[in-house]
Amino acid sequence: MSFHPHTVIEPFRIKTVEPIRRATRDEREAALKAAGYNLFLLKAEDVLIDLLTDSGTGAMSSAQWGGMMQGDESYAGAKSFYRFEAAVREITGFRHVIPTHQGRAAERILFGSMLKPGDIVPNNTHFDTTRANVEYRGATALDIPVAEGRQPALIHPFKGNIDLPALERAITDNPGRVPLAMITVTNNSGGGQPVSMANIRAASDICHKHGVPFFIDACRFAENAWFIKMREPGYAGKSPLEIAQEMFRCADGCTMSAKKDGLANIGGFLALNDDDLAQRCRNMLILTEGFPTYGGLAGYDLEAIAVGLKEALDEDYLRYRIRSVEYLGEKLTAAGIPIVQPPGGHAIYLDAKAMLPHIPQSEYPAWALSLALYLEGGVRSVEIGSVMFGRQPDGSEQPAAMELVRLAFPRRVYTQSHVDYLAEVLLYVNSIKDRVRGVRMVEAPATLRHFSARMAPAHGAVIV
Ligand code: F0G
Repeated sequence: MSFHPHTVIEPFRIKTVEPIRRATRDEREAALKAAGYNLFLLKAEDVLIDLLTDSGTGAMSSAQWGGMMQGDESYAGAKSFYRFEAAVREITGFRHVIPTHQGRAAERILFGSMLKPGDIVPNNTHFDTTRANVEYRGATALDIPVAEGRQPALIHPFKGNIDLPALERAITDNPGRVPLAMITVTNNSGGGQPVSMANIRAASDICHKHGVPFFIDACRFAENAWFIKMREPGYAGKSPLEIAQEMFRCADGCTMSAKKDGLANIGGFLALNDDDLAQRCRNMLILTEGFPTYGGLAGYDLEAIAVGLKEALDEDYLRYRIRSVEYLGEKLTAAGIPIVQPPGGHAIYLDAKAMLPHIPQSEYPAWALSLALYLEGGVRSVEIGSVMFGRQPDGSEQPAAMELVRLAFPRRVYTQSHVDYLAEVLLYVNSIKDRVRGVRMVEAPATLRHFSARMAPAHGAVIV
């Protein structure tokens, strides 16, 4: 008999620590007011547990820091670039590897090289910057997740899947106007839900049958690979690397934010096979990012990413990563708090519509809930609802399909006791949820308004 422990431990020990400060509730109330009731406008030092994003907020490993010391800062042809290129090629198999300062730069360059006004880009669900970059070219960002993906309480192994008949219709109904289709793994705006290999392959087949290039938004490719390994028949015996390689083999290219599954604090890339397109992209890259062997990054950033991409595919890391999110999900579910089920890869998404039915969508229930979590527990989350997605390109207002609050887990940063604390905050806010009130928008820019909008309580206070 051997010992099979039940506890999934953090597969690392801590070498450097960063203190976090517990502000008082009064201090948080004042900070909220000063920030125009927008959590993006808070000072980070006023936050106790920061779950605003899992992007660029991870802890690097000693191997990454060690690699950074070997950064080659040559303007052209640096050794660091070739190490980065080799790491990206091993995983993705794409011929051309173009570094960028983060994911949205890869999007801007790709869309700038492929889209014209009137075009349509189908995707399971575009994330905010991806949508904004498509719309900036005068094109339409078409979200077509499977129907299961829009029902928060429904349990389904691959709620991130794209609606295949809708994808085919988008292409055949709009001849010549779909220059590429994308799939986002995992589906961030749709609850961090994974996409199955079968769905990726079928979407790729549809695109290729109609001569449409197929791209992967690969930010969380390693987490997606882990879900495939755990949930899709035939993949249990494959390594996350092999699964990732199979995913990328279905595609013509990818955009990547290395701030997620690159385990780096900054960076990204565009990788693709088409020689002409790569040349056009590199020309655009030189305009705003830099020479093609550094693309807006320092040599040491390229080193950190080269190491991080491999660490993100480590099985012990992925098991711990996915389990820590699921652990919070289980505690909330046991307490009857509505979340997107099952828990996603990088985040728990609270279903604010279900939790706060007394707040109409016009008063932004998810935004209101995120304010309450900060006020009571010092927890910063992000609204993924009608503030983020309610404004249409023509200026009209349309409520978002779901009102979610995302609690995104930075990678390798918080421990199980932090998660226990989070659960306590959530259970407390749930116990006073009837006192949480809606908010109104005081002023906001036309695009990406959630980053800078100024809001105010619609009924006197966040919690009455
Ligand atoms: N695509 C997806 C699916 C993303 O989640 C993000 C970023 C990007 C593209 C853009 O990458 O930030 O490096 O420019 N998402 C972060 C988040 C910001 O909080 O989910 P970037």
